[in-house]
Amino acid sequence: MPLLHESDLHGSLQDPVLGAISFLNEVMGRHPGAISFAPGAPRLPHLRDADLSHYTDVYLEHLRTERGLSEERARRLLHEYGPSRGLINDVVAAALSRDLGVPARPEALVITVGAQEAMVLTLRALCPSPGDLLAVATPGYVGILGAARLLDIGVVAVPDTDRGPDLGALRAACRTARAGGRRVRALYVAPDYANPSGTVMDRADRHALLSVAEEEDLLLLEDGAYAFTAPPGTDVPSLKALDRDTRVIHLGTFAKVCLPGARVGFVVADQPVTGPGGTRLLADDLAALKSMVTVNTSPLSQAVIAGMLLEHGGSLADLGRDRAQVYRENLAFLLDALDRHCATPELTGAVSWNRPRGGFFVRMRLPVPVDTALLERCAAGHGVLWTPMAPFWIGDAGDHELRLSCSYLDQPAIEEGVRRLAGFLHDIVPTPTHTRTRTS
Ligand SMILES: Cc1ncc(COP(=O)(O)O)c(C=O)c1O
Repeated sequence: MPLLHESDLHGSLQDPVLGAISFLNEVMGRHPGAISFAPGAPRLPHLRDADLSHYTDVYLEHLRTERGLSEERARRLLHEYGPSRGLINDVVAAALSRDLGVPARPEALVITVGAQEAMVLTLRALCPSPGDLLAVATPGYVGILGAARLLDIGVVAVPDTDRGPDLGALRAACRTARAGGRRVRALYVAPDYANPSGTVMDRADRHALLSVAEEEDLLLLEDGAYAFTAPPGTDVPSLKALDRDTRVIHLGTFAKVCLPGARVGFVVADQPVTGPGGTRLLADDLAALKSMVTVNTSPLSQAVIAGMLLEHGGSLADLGRDRAQVYRENLAFLLDALDRHCATPELTGAVSWNRPRGGFFVRMRLPVPVDTALLERCAAGHGVLWTPMAPFWIGDAGDHELRLSCSYLDQPAIEEGVRRLAGFLHDIVPTPTHTRTRTS
């Protein structure tokens, strides 16, 4: 008799959202020759030449000169347990204030193990009771949907439009929750080239969302992961930069701009929290939660990220500029390859895709259900992989869509991958003749 049955374990383990990423890794492992448009990870050539010990030395020098630490003390900081709040808060806060207009004080920041940990900590703190709900602009990032599921936090879907979350639907969701004795605590939104929708919100829509958040007494969890990819001259201030009311908790990651393997992200949580002991910052509470989750983000990883920033004058924008340019070129190349290979008379009208100007992703709609069986068929028969979009939705609204990522491949691989994808699409899309045969 086995010791454990899955019904004795947490229900999230049976939720497809938790299996989505490992399933893709597993398929990639089984089809090593396939070209994969699945990972939203940075392209490896960027990372190959990263001199980690040099970046660590740059940060050690910062500790000596800016914080007046001895050589020995500075090195010990990197080798020992560190503060849960983080070690490099001063460097990150300066970069955020300077580049994103995010008025981040070091003490209002927590340096986390990726944006993912920031999501978990923030949701844990904001949703103390079963009646607390998270609204998510959908299709939404699987990381936030999975974090909510793990914490047993109910999620309400707010449809994403091409201008951001549908504000009427958001208001209605808040009203419905209140009528049922529940409350929507926060909306998760990625206003800059969201994953997977590619949506960008303009300044007026950001102000409108902030107003609704105030009227409905919501917090906004802003995810800025892809803001750095905005084409020059098109970037709009982040929600946090426009926030006059500490409504916005800003979540960030260094995975896309620096190194995903460092696992460093951050959260700006400058909301005052009052209690019998006085007033503190929400960041203090997130740090307290973190002390029971990962204790602290690896000081060695933090040193590498801070060193990378300092090497670029302490500027996130400078650090991300070249990489953003490569991603935009890849995205333009992917869209061009789709036009050349997939805009054929057979596919036109049946297959469609969006045309984002930044971010990592293109979203494609097919006339057939897009599930894991279809992905297997594509991998085995055509040697190309992508991400089914169903896990990004709540319910089955997205079961005819797939996501293509431009970040991981170089242009020759994108070209070959799209050529293979086109072969697959021509195979599966019913031609008018097939349709007639089936219906007659
Ligand atoms: C929307 C979004 N947020 C955050 C992240 C990065 O999270 P992390 O820092 O945990 O790698 C990703 C990565 O795929 C993402 O797509």
